[in-house]
Amino acid sequence: MRIIVVDNYEEMSKKAAIMMASQVVLKPNSVLGLATGSTPVGMYKELVNMYKVGEVDFSDVKTFNLDEYYGLDKNNQQSYHNYMMENLFDHINVKEENINIPNGMAENVEKECLDYDRRIEEVGGIDIQVLGIGANGHIGFNEPNVSFEAGTHLVKLDEKTIKDNSRFFDSIGEVPTTAVSMGIKTIMMSKKIILLANGKGKAEAIKKTIEGKITPEVPASILQLHKDVTFIIDKEAANEL
Ligand code: GLP
Repeated sequence: MRIIVVDNYEEMSKKAAIMMASQVVLKPNSVLGLATGSTPVGMYKELVNMYKVGEVDFSDVKTFNLDEYYGLDKNNQQSYHNYMMENLFDHINVKEENINIPNGMAENVEKECLDYDRRIEEVGGIDIQVLGIGANGHIGFNEPNVSFEAGTHLVKLDEKTIKDNSRFFDSIGEVPTTAVSMGIKTIMMSKKIILLANGKGKAEAIKKTIEGKITPEVPASILQLHKDVTFIIDKEAANEL
């Protein structure tokens, strides 16, 4: 594993965008695994800027998002679908048919999950997966005590995650309690992974992830076993290492 400690959020975002853009330049039909949350917003901004000045072309890229709230329509302001459109897809030349985000309104959720993994497999797997991390060590929406063997599945959100994510909703009661998320197995099958973290709220999770025991209690700790993972973290998130 590689650990890159940077001074601040801006530097983290720039480094991550450069890694993503390099991947696309080297392999224009790359399969990108994308994340949501506040952490990657800056990286998406950088990528949009790079696209606008002609440094990167997304016309052959395929994307797969990590997760989506279950029960939220894709047009809901808080859906991850809407987040991706606003932060990235509306501003670059990725083709609509190449965008994949779990369907949070799927009636047959089990089928949706199996189909999602099958679609990833069909395109040859994810070349580079971006991850944020929850304060409890979750990745995607794989909460503590998740099975490391699971593919994409319906998850019940942890109290802590619901509380953390309530800042995006009008009230905590509006935060969905379940989500469709790529599983740990799906994530671990990505060829390359970059995990971004900033701020002191992530320091404990980062310490446990990088230096702690590999345990389902800290889902991100499994990344210690991945052969090509890079952590890009700011000084505050690295504070306990
Ligand atoms: C959500 C997402 C995760 C994300 C995490 C951290 O729960 N499902 O993919 O990494 O939040 O969010 P933030 O970046 O806002 O701290």
